[in-house]
Amino acid sequence: MSKKLVAGNWKLNGSLDANARLLSALAALPGVEMAVCVPYPYLAQAGSALQGIGLGAQNVSEYTSGAYTGEVSASMLAEFGCSYTIVGHSERRALFAESDAVVGRKVLAAQAAGLVPIVCVGETLAEREAGQVMSVVGRQLEAVLDVTGADAMARIVVAYEPVWAIGSGLSATAAQVGDVHGGLRSWLRAHDVDADGVRILYGGSVKPENADELFAVKDVDGGLIGGASLVAEDFMAICRAAMVKQN
Ligand code: PGA
Repeated sequence: MSKKLVAGNWKLNGSLDANARLLSALAALPGVEMAVCVPYPYLAQAGSALQGIGLGAQNVSEYTSGAYTGEVSASMLAEFGCSYTIVGHSERRALFAESDAVVGRKVLAAQAAGLVPIVCVGETLAEREAGQVMSVVGRQLEAVLDVTGADAMARIVVAYEPVWAIGSGLSATAAQVGDVHGGLRSWLRAHDVDADGVRILYGGSVKPENADELFAVKDVDGGLIGGASLVAEDFMAICRAAMVKQN
């Protein structure tokens, strides 16, 4: 596997002033690929401030153009310098009713415009307690595979984000993460996807204090960082942890 990828997900946060301070404190590091996924209106600001750090969006339309008020297309994101977009974050699935099928179509739209989709999968606490983790994430991946096919699926990034760990301060344990990441890699392989080339990120309460341990887990190829990506020192510390952990 190549370098780890650490992507910040700013969510619905930021202002021109606060962003300027945060962006100026980020610096590309050797040995790790870094990206920040910012709200749409800040793409231009982030794009011109970042050097050697990838730019991403947090969502993308499944449509390319036309009468879809409020939507933003993948080619627009590409025009603004995005190389990534998050797709199917659990907040979008839960709060904006994005179905597995919609997520699949968004992945297709992103790839058609040359973006790398960071596809989020993950179970709720109730699903974990019912022993359904692999069936849930498998169903979420299946919807993507159905539209992309195995070859294009090898060019997505997967982010395993257990819903109960997001923003809760309660990260999954290294053992839990290892189990699911190994399971995801096997799922991909079993579906004829070139699984060794797919980066599988972990997301959910990653902090400087637990990044070392999480990035050392087999099959963890980086992280998707929410809250801690808004604090430059924390995001940089997490990126440094990824830099030294190549597995
Ligand atoms: P968190 O969010 O790091 O604040 O838990 C992760 C995410 O939602 O991508």
